[in-house]
Amino acid sequence: MGRIVTFTNHIRSIIVVLVILIFQGCQTVPETPAASDKYRLVWNEDPATNITVAWDQHEVANAQVMYGTTDQGKKFWKYPSSKKVDRVLDKYDMTTHFAKLSGLEPDQEYYFVIKDDKGVSERYWFRTAPDKPKAFTFVAGGDSKSDGDALEASRASNRIVAKLRPLFVMFNGDFCSGNGTVPERWHLWLKDWQELTTTTDGRMIPIFPVHGNHENGDHGNLNYIFNAPYHDNDSSKIYYSVSFGGDFFHTIALNSSVGVGGNQRDWLEKDLKSHENFTFKIAGYHKPIWPHTESKRENPEEYNEWAHLFYDYGLDVSLDGDSHMSKITYPLRPDSAAVDSYMGYVRDDERGTMFMGEGSWGAHPRANNDDKPWTIKSFSGNQIKLIQVMPKDENLPDRMSIYTILSATYDDEDKQTLYDAAVETLTEDNLFKVPANAELVENGPYGTEMKYPFVLNNVEEPVAN
Ligand SMILES: [Fe+2]
Repeated sequence: MGRIVTFTNHIRSIIVVLVILIFQGCQTVPETPAASDKYRLVWNEDPATNITVAWDQHEVANAQVMYGTTDQGKKFWKYPSSKKVDRVLDKYDMTTHFAKLSGLEPDQEYYFVIKDDKGVSERYWFRTAPDKPKAFTFVAGGDSKSDGDALEASRASNRIVAKLRPLFVMFNGDFCSGNGTVPERWHLWLKDWQELTTTTDGRMIPIFPVHGNHENGDHGNLNYIFNAPYHDNDSSKIYYSVSFGGDFFHTIALNSSVGVGGNQRDWLEKDLKSHENFTFKIAGYHKPIWPHTESKRENPEEYNEWAHLFYDYGLDVSLDGDSHMSKITYPLRPDSAAVDSYMGYVRDDERGTMFMGEGSWGAHPRANNDDKPWTIKSFSGNQIKLIQVMPKDENLPDRMSIYTILSATYDDEDKQTLYDAAVETLTEDNLFKVPANAELVENGPYGTEMKYPFVLNNVEEPVAN
């Protein structure tokens, strides 16, 4: 009797499985797209195992991200994992949805679609960060604009990102023209970001956003747009950090638009201290300490609050924005007493921080007319920085190579030349190549590749008599 019941149950299970398989086989991808757009990926928490998917949802609900490590195209039912929305926010004429995917495998491709009651999005994919030292590239830059030539230069920089397919982009503030509260400008920025920085095979590049002064109309902007974390239950205090590669790489987003001392300074010290053993520590913030254009004011409060922390805890590279030009300095140590000190800094090739920036993703370039004795190179043009990060091997130590890639320049009549179209498109198989036909800025005797640690540059310098 028991055997007959077991047999019947067995047959029933087989029938259920068959029905499911037949149902799935008959399922087709909806012809309508999902009722959503402005998709973007954000890293603001352990990027080896988390990512936030954000988008603007229209009309209908029940939106969710369907994802997995195998490409199932738009066949959403074949993805093994799904994530419903964690947060919905009505702001700037968008119904922004945030869905955080967590528990992901490090250094892994994930494919996903966003599905709702109306349809399904295109299939996109991303790569999580590694959890042990491994080579990767990232792009740093900031200052895009919402119209005219500056918008076109911003778009050229976006298109170069897609060609470089970096692991992520550190965007150093100033996303839109104005004060960051005009809905149409955010719509345009987000639409451009999705369409232009996504690779032709659908790889979306996560953003690590930093607050700039053009977001000051509402200091919570990066939280509204990118779900950026904040401190003390105050959405204006947006500064945070993420790490990956085990103890290989730590990146900090500071905020030059709220008090740089006090709570932010205390947090920075704690954060740097707790990551002191990391191989590389970098920080992004918008306003340079000492800008390389005369039309921008100096920021001594940043020097007073941050410079010694950067040096004492071994910050390797500082990345800023705001001035709409490019600069790279020698490694610097804060020291006001030394005879060769200039604006509180002396060159320190062994232990100093290299300062790089200063914006110009798209905003019209300013003159580079305020170099210092410790400036290696400044340049007036639209540009982004490509940074290759490599763990040590049998021949070389842990190291970075930094390239300044031009996206636009202007002649004496202010006529714009864009450089993105000719840039070689990298593939998953040659991510560490410097793309052919990229317009690279030379750094004096050091050429187009600026190495860090600085001593790796191996250039014989003239000895003063
Ligand atoms: Fe700015």
